[in-house]
Amino acid sequence: MAACGLDFGTSNSAVALPSGEVLLVDPGALNPRLFRTVLFFPDESRETLAGHAAIERYQEDNAGRFIQSMKTWLPASSFTRTQLRSQTLTLEELIAIFLRQVRAVASKAAGEALDAVVLGRPARFSATPATDAFAEARLRKAAELAGFESVRFLIEPIAAALAYEATLERDEVVLVADFGAGTTDLTVMHLGPSRRGRGDRKDDVVASAGVYVGGDRFDSAIMASKLLPSFGAGSTYEVDSFTRRRLTMPTYISSRLLSWNEMSLIREKKTRELIDVMLKTSDSLPAIEALHDLVMYNLGFRLFRAIEAAKVTLSTEQVARIDFDDERVHLHQTITRDEFEAASAPLITELAECTGELLTRVPANLHIDSVFLTGGSSYVPAVQRLFAQRFGAEKLRTGRGTGSAFTSVVEGLGRAAHPDFELSGPQ
Ligand SMILES: Nc1ncnc2c1ncn2[C@@H]1O[C@H](COP(=O)(O)OP(=O)(O)OP(=O)(O)O)[C@@H](O)[C@H]1O
Ligand SMILES: [Mg+2]
Repeated sequence: MAACGLDFGTSNSAVALPSGEVLLVDPGALNPRLFRTVLFFPDESRETLAGHAAIERYQEDNAGRFIQSMKTWLPASSFTRTQLRSQTLTLEELIAIFLRQVRAVASKAAGEALDAVVLGRPARFSATPATDAFAEARLRKAAELAGFESVRFLIEPIAAALAYEATLERDEVVLVADFGAGTTDLTVMHLGPSRRGRGDRKDDVVASAGVYVGGDRFDSAIMASKLLPSFGAGSTYEVDSFTRRRLTMPTYISSRLLSWNEMSLIREKKTRELIDVMLKTSDSLPAIEALHDLVMYNLGFRLFRAIEAAKVTLSTEQVARIDFDDERVHLHQTITRDEFEAASAPLITELAECTGELLTRVPANLHIDSVFLTGGSSYVPAVQRLFAQRFGAEKLRTGRGTGSAFTSVVEGLGRAAHPDFELSGPQ
């Protein structure tokens, strides 16, 4: 049975072999080692597209169902089924459609059918043990439906730690921090040559913690701080033509603009009717027209790509531009690094609190030798600064030398799929 490691990420997935080699799973993509965790079901055909092909087709013509961030639904017991074309699919079946495609391209790249998998999972899907087990069971079921005969799990920060450990020449106590799109996972762990290959390594974990802070929330912070007025936040409209009484646009509309996949909720009848009223009486008509087109023509995904691009630019530059022209949405804004940092300060506070709480569980006599930062959001300067201030810049290690920040988790999962690596738990 050929085995692999699979990182099912909120925004990027990847597959690696037991040698640690990360497979080229999406040859047409900007980074062919990453398979974007998205699906698109176009209305006009029976096709199911995944990865960058799904994004491209959706951008050409968005008629259909575009699905992303599937991982974040795993712990939500309220999400059981969704209607797709004329079928009703469970979440497990939906994720299986995605994993089946990833498994097929990875098997092709590996030159053999990959039928055993070590799947990554966050340190915590949920703080409630029953919910956590429920989420893991759903992911297991999805992997089985996708054709994997053996499914084992390893938590993502341990997997990232294994990739880092492969570079170590002496034993260390390491804080591994994985900043993804959906979550941040922190683990303090013993790593090094003397411990390599020792069981599932759970005994080497000193303490771990997780928090729902990730790249998606940094994007929302940009939307919240810079762009909402361009979509009518704070504008007023007339509620009653007789008394001429005016009200401010309700905040529930703005709050649904903070993540693109909640925008569709604005298309509900009640809100649509309100937008029609605002289109007649708003004191900020261009903003309401932009709101209307953003929501009704499904432009949210593209807008959030532009926001994400600005955020990525701000990791290396002091200023970024957000330029977006589609229908009646015309955004031409600059955002400085200082503005971004002010907007995302609450997220950095959450990360600091989570780290502080974790450290209270590390014995006082245990000295942390290095801090390994990985995951796409580890590039955010304020994230790096937080850890440099707390532990000293000389202790920080980034993905460099161990593969990029996007692939250390999958590299470790691949290594854990090696037959010599003992993983506990049911197969
Ligand atoms: N240069 C950069 N600066 C800041 N953020 C970045 C940069 N590059 C990527 N990101 C962000 O990193 C996130 C993706 O990282 P990654 O692939 O590690 O997440 P994931 O594994 O899909 O998510 P999770 O681990 O939470 O399930 C996205 O939110 C993306 O916007
Ligand atoms: Mg990840």
